[in-house]
Amino acid sequence: MSNAEPQGLSALEIRLQRESVLPDHEARRHGVTGPHIAASKFTPPAAAPEAKSEKPAKKKKKPLLETKNLHKSYRKGRLTIPVLRGVDFAAEEGKITTIIGQSGSGKSTLLHLMGTLDSPDSGEINFANTRIDKLNIRQRDALRSRAFGMIFQFYHLLPELTTLENVLTPIMISHGMWRYWAARKKFRKRAEELLEMVGLGHRVTHKPRELSGGEMQRTAIARALIAQPRILLADEPTGNLDEQTGGEIMDILKRLNREQNLTIVMVTHDNAIAEQGHETIRLTGGRVEKT
Ligand SMILES: Nc1ncnc2c1ncn2[C@@H]1O[C@H](COP(=O)(O)OP(=O)(O)OP(=O)(O)O)[C@@H](O)[C@H]1O
Ligand SMILES: [Mg+2]
Repeated sequence: MSNAEPQGLSALEIRLQRESVLPDHEARRHGVTGPHIAASKFTPPAAAPEAKSEKPAKKKKKPLLETKNLHKSYRKGRLTIPVLRGVDFAAEEGKITTIIGQSGSGKSTLLHLMGTLDSPDSGEINFANTRIDKLNIRQRDALRSRAFGMIFQFYHLLPELTTLENVLTPIMISHGMWRYWAARKKFRKRAEELLEMVGLGHRVTHKPRELSGGEMQRTAIARALIAQPRILLADEPTGNLDEQTGGEIMDILKRLNREQNLTIVMVTHDNAIAEQGHETIRLTGGRVEKT
């Protein structure tokens, strides 16, 4: 059975690999070789032009992450609170896109929906040309752990674990303890390199309570990068930090974008921070208003 699908790999995961959503190493980890890997590198030959034209039409780049007419309300008892009322959002690959808006305008709601932490009432969310708003829990977990990195205002580090262990948690969860254990040296090396990269090489054995706010956010950034995501979703990553420390966190994010072409979508209520992105959108009245 040469075309048998590898065990434990859902149709969605295979599709995501084909669409190059999941990194190649994940495909190899699942033993997926040949067409699945090749598909992500394969460029189909261009179709023969129907009519001769002097200038080819300029192709608009497809966004890596987009929402179409997204609606979300919360229900509190008999009360319905409409938050998103038809949000069209697009984040281009390799860019930093910032989302700004007043407190309560739905920034976190939008980011959580795009990160598949919650489901919209209606509308579409697409990631790398794949619809992701109707995935089941297992598919969401697979997508989040392999393609998305997330950072939050309050870091969400585990207090009992060291900095290094916190960075390794996504790998432990997605690989399971046995497979993590088998390749632990490789993963520890990667975690140490990431901590070095965010300037925390000297804090690997510290626990969160022994770190400053900026150091905790650096740890959270390293943790978000351990699984080599295609996109980083950040909810007010500088919101709990003073101006200088927030600036240092922004410098790290901009360096990641510049040097590794990492796509970043970042929520902030700070105009000065938002302006450091390539593109900024404002949420007002539950819709997007381009700034
Ligand atoms: N789980 C929930 N249940 C009920 N209402 C909610 C829930 N989560 C958010 N809301 C409401 O939805 C609205 C948007 O919340 P959201 O957290 O997305 O805003 P935000 O723009 O991120 O605000 P902030 O800048 O203060 O973080 C708010 O009015 C909030 O009270
Ligand atoms: Mg918020």
